Amino acid sequence: PRPIIVDCDPGHDDAIALILAMASPELKPLAVTTSAGNQTPDKTLNNALRILTLLGRSDVAVAGGAIKPLARELIIADNVHGETGLDGPALPQPSFAPQPLTAVELMAAKIRQSAQPVTLVPTGPLTNIALLLASHPELHQNIERIVLMGGAATLGNWTPAAEFNIYVDPEAAEVVFKAGIPITMCGLEVTHQAQIMDEDIDRIRAINNPVAQVTAELLDFFMIYHRDPKWGFTGAPLHDPCTIAWLLAPELFETVDCWVGIETKGEHTQGMTVVDRYQLTGKPANATVALGLDRQGFVDLLVERLRFYG
Ligand code: BDR
Ligand code: CA
Repeated sequence: PRPIIVDCDPGHDDAIALILAMASPELKPLAVTTSAGNQTPDKTLNNALRILTLLGRSDVAVAGGAIKPLARELIIADNVHGETGLDGPALPQPSFAPQPLTAVELMAAKIRQSAQPVTLVPTGPLTNIALLLASHPELHQNIERIVLMGGAATLGNWTPAAEFNIYVDPEAAEVVFKAGIPITMCGLEVTHQAQIMDEDIDRIRAINNPVAQVTAELLDFFMIYHRDPKWGFTGAPLHDPCTIAWLLAPELFETVDCWVGIETKGEHTQGMTVVDRYQLTGKPANATVALGLDRQGFVDLLVERLRFYG
């Protein structure tokens, strides 16, 4: 199995990414670290512990990360994810404690100990990943790839130009995109195709195991924000699980290798991922950008994996 570390800010779709990852024998989760983003860092850490408790995975090492972005104040998405960051289902309290380490220390230790290069899967702001890369240049060679949810080639979802994860910490995103490590970017073009419809939620609920039940309830809540007609959605875009789905079934995705720059200073465009789709800059590609998705294949994969839980 492929060793991965998920750095997340759960968050409904982060939680479902964890649920998908932990049900997949192709992947070996070495650690789960948490970033400040969808909610404050105390809450995202607690949420990761609660989800892993639900999954019976207290064996996975967990650590909390930076309490705010590198150079800015924290912005949270409680309008999307609620007061707890995982509003909706009744979740168990954590049955285990986080490691007495920072996210960076835990990631560094796991990468150092791993016989195989590790794939990092960030599904929140990139603060912890940037701190890791900046403080441990000697570990870059042991990182196989960074498969992240963030950015967009066209329109943003938090500002007209910026997607939430990159908008929260553009300075961190810049460090990550400049690091020279292979990146797969699951941005809004692809995650907006990963829409879960009401009938998909019915299918998930009908699996009738406790984890599928919680997943359905997470989706019910996540739907509320996305039903606003301004988005033009039929369902809810399952952003973060796209990263895990790409690792499991890359054939479901269409990708293009592009140079991606991060806008840190623009007047209207801070946090924008500038995707050079037409090779206009002449700069070498630094990311594999996912642009297309077989939606039905994605939903079928999620449903199939949820059966793993009984
Ligand atoms: C991203 O922002 C968060 O609200 C989601 O968890 C996802 O990672 C989508 O823009
Ligand atoms: Ca997230």
